Amino acid sequence: MRPPLIQLQGLTRTYGRGDAAVSALRGIDLTLFSGDFLAVMGASGSGKSTLMNILGCLDTPSGGHYGFESIAVETLNQTQRALLRRHRLGFVFQGFNLLARTSARENVELPLLYRGLPAARRRQAALAALDLVGLSDRAGHTPAELSGGQQQRVAIARAIVTDPAVLLADEPTGNLDTARSHAIMELLTRLNRERGLTIIMVTHEEEMAAYAGRTLHLRDGLIDRDSAEPDATSCC
Ligand SMILES: Nc1ncnc2c1ncn2[C@@H]1O[C@H](COP(=O)(O)OP(=O)(O)OP(=O)(O)O)[C@@H](O)[C@H]1O
Ligand SMILES: [Mg+2]
Repeated sequence: MRPPLIQLQGLTRTYGRGDAAVSALRGIDLTLFSGDFLAVMGASGSGKSTLMNILGCLDTPSGGHYGFESIAVETLNQTQRALLRRHRLGFVFQGFNLLARTSARENVELPLLYRGLPAARRRQAALAALDLVGLSDRAGHTPAELSGGQQQRVAIARAIVTDPAVLLADEPTGNLDTARSHAIMELLTRLNRERGLTIIMVTHEEEMAAYAGRTLHLRDGLIDRDSAEPDATSCC
């Protein structure tokens, strides 16, 4: 059997201490393989962003195990986590998070700048990524000159320009109308199917989750339902 890409065992995250402590994750077990497309759903405060932040090495768990490929992420120091993040993970957020006075191409180039790639190669890779998301003709435009859907496409191009193993998207369609949301989901589906990109996406909308091959429902920091697991309640 092929080895998992991501393996979580008893993952917990508690914010604060004592009486003020909040248990955002209370024991998450999850196995993902390369090429999976997972939607994470659940009520506000159920722990979705906390889980994404830990998966994305932006935050560390309070307990449990996070395996990424052959690495035990919980044993890494801050610098090692930053390297893992920079080389293997891509992020897309609800609010696009693009630099305002900077062209689409330069926004997409940014992660490559951190990697120290020479200008010509950065430019070439950024244009290729913009082409993949259907925005070749908007490379010179600033975010203010782009629609919301186009801005999110630029953010996706920026996330995939480094050729990450996993794309983490926290409510990528949260700021978009229905038509633009579907267009973004079609783009993510194409990246997943054609390029084998592993995607983990938080959404509040069933319609958007339906694009993913698997859906996880969180409730109070625990997995309430997993479409990949037989549903105990509906059994004979
Ligand atoms: N930095 C923090 N300090 C203290 N508590 C936090 C912090 N971040 C999140 N929490 C708490 O942890 C719980 C889970 O929060 P999280 O942001 O993961 O929820 P979510 O499922 O992403 O919600 P939403 O759908 O509203 O984005 C909530 O009770 C929240 O108040
Ligand atoms: Mg959230």
